[in-house]
Amino acid sequence: MRESYYVTTPIYYPSGNLHIGHTYTTIVADVIKRFKKLEGNDVFFVTGTDEHGQKIAEAAKKSGLAPIEFTDRIVETTKKLWDSLNIEYDRFERTTSKTHEETVQKVVEKLYEQGDIYKAKYEGLYCVPCEAYFTESQAIDGHICPDCHRELQKREEESYFFKISKYQDRIIDYIKTADIEPAYIKDEIINGFLKDGLQDLSISRTAIDWGIKVPFDEKHVVYVWVDALICYLSGIGYLRDEELFNKFWPCDLHLVGREIVRFHIVIWPAILMALGLELPKKVFAHGWILFDNDKMSKSKGNVYYPEPIIETLGADTLRYFILREFSFGSDGNFTIDKLVQRYNSDLVNDLGNLVSRTLAMVEKYFDGIVPEIGKAEALDGEIDAEIERAKEAFYAEMNDLKFNFALEDVFKLIRRSNRYIDETEPWNLAKSDTERLKTVLYKLSLAIVEAAKMLEPIMPATTEKIYEKYNIKNSFEFKSGLKVNKGENLFNRADSDMTEKISQINKELFERRQKEIGNAPKTSEKVLEKKAEIEFADFDKCDLRVGKIIEVKPHENANKLYVLKVDIGGEIRTIVSALREHFKEEELLNKEVVMIINIKPVNLRGVQSNGMVLAAEKNGKLTLLKPWDEGFTGAGIR
Ligand code: ME8
Repeated sequence: MRESYYVTTPIYYPSGNLHIGHTYTTIVADVIKRFKKLEGNDVFFVTGTDEHGQKIAEAAKKSGLAPIEFTDRIVETTKKLWDSLNIEYDRFERTTSKTHEETVQKVVEKLYEQGDIYKAKYEGLYCVPCEAYFTESQAIDGHICPDCHRELQKREEESYFFKISKYQDRIIDYIKTADIEPAYIKDEIINGFLKDGLQDLSISRTAIDWGIKVPFDEKHVVYVWVDALICYLSGIGYLRDEELFNKFWPCDLHLVGREIVRFHIVIWPAILMALGLELPKKVFAHGWILFDNDKMSKSKGNVYYPEPIIETLGADTLRYFILREFSFGSDGNFTIDKLVQRYNSDLVNDLGNLVSRTLAMVEKYFDGIVPEIGKAEALDGEIDAEIERAKEAFYAEMNDLKFNFALEDVFKLIRRSNRYIDETEPWNLAKSDTERLKTVLYKLSLAIVEAAKMLEPIMPATTEKIYEKYNIKNSFEFKSGLKVNKGENLFNRADSDMTEKISQINKELFERRQKEIGNAPKTSEKVLEKKAEIEFADFDKCDLRVGKIIEVKPHENANKLYVLKVDIGGEIRTIVSALREHFKEEELLNKEVVMIINIKPVNLRGVQSNGMVLAAEKNGKLTLLKPWDEGFTGAGIR
């Protein structure tokens, strides 16, 4: 019997263009969909965009657009991106769609009518980037967001609350018994987030209006996380298309990044319990992709987009790499260098070569017709055994979501087959033993088609090309007598400058997109990020003085630096400062500026710097901090 299977990705914030991280979850969901489909299931795959809330409203404002105009643009590029990666989602659920909005309103109304929602005053600590409230005990040091480590804002507002506390025991039971991976997350949540008991959840906001209106009180909009989670229901027609919904609910697999698993295994099951719906069968929280061993962030400028990779090395290369390189549950470091290396070694050398060598020989020795099996030796049987081993291991690993191992299994078969060519030396058999040659080329072709069949969910375009070369539509049609067509190489070797080329295209794309969405360059964004509160005593440790610049010389070994001599009231300090791109020497000379004089000396390109001149930066431009009046050289700052 055909079974139904429902898989989801998170619906992403369209606050900027999606990067490799979002691509990771989406590729995995697509691979699972294709894999389950090939197994004969009816599969439904929902992805989408989480468009409401303060974060999006602020991003839209920055770019001078209405929120919906802003998200429309990002959604358009997102859909294009998924198309270019051959992502076969069944529904792209936007939280701004009419159908989703109606579903959310119906859900909220139902919970209100059954007494699961009530109105009260809310006081708490809010994190805008995470769109989440925290209690003081959940916050780090009482004021830092435990998720993103940014400063929390104190807020007080009238709000509707969801009686999540009522479901606490059932939630804990659910977490203990449910299929949640990796399993250690269960303890983390039970002994961490749930340790002090659940407080009722504030599920409406009055401070912003970019959201879905609470149907019975239009001053309020629904809290973004409640709005967003319901997409998993609206995406398959909850309260709208009973047949579709009944076919696919409960969800078989919610794929999420680890940072949002809490919402999926605490809030989400509680909402479903309140609605009387079955709970998801599995939640898998995958690892985090790091860039230069760091979290990707726009302010650090280390954002990697998928488009430059697709453009240069093709969609299948990214699909392959992302599954092959990382172990799905764990964090991993992404570098373009590794991507290019794997492309050359696995795809060009192993897979590409096997296909082109084999087909070239079928064309040369048998007029392009796949031969029948001729005389066989023990070695030829090894290829059959290797195909069986690879298949068995591959399907087991895929069902366990161990994609890197599954791919390694296929590539072992591919590498074994390449070795088989070296061992059997078909070019010599062509002279001495054509009966054996037939067997070798048949077995090689069989290995290629079997490998292609396994690769189908992961590299659909490449598989299609391989099938085309063998003149078949799927692996079942493979047999001797097929007329092959070697055609072009599957993959062409990437030159040594490929890493540089992709990085450059990525950089240009990043800069263009930053401009398009009106974001300031990275340093000023960094400056704008609020830092944690400090005690006066901490501030008092800084020895700030007014100093007069009495000499300005270019640094001999660095073209961005000046070496300044600064009079700080009877003492002359040497200060190395990165002001050369911003000010001419004469603009600085004899100016009184504010500086810190007790910062530890540093050696900058061979010159010791004993202090730091303070400057403000906006959109890449610098201005110096100066006292209002002249004649304050040496004065302290208070
Ligand atoms: O959290 N490594 O949206 P979001 C791995 N709207 N995965 C990554 C990643 C990285 N570096 N960066 C992003 C939201 N992801 C909410 C979700 S669902 C009802 C609402 C992936 O745009 C990963 O799946 O911040 C992560 O959970 C998701 O993108 C976060 O996307």
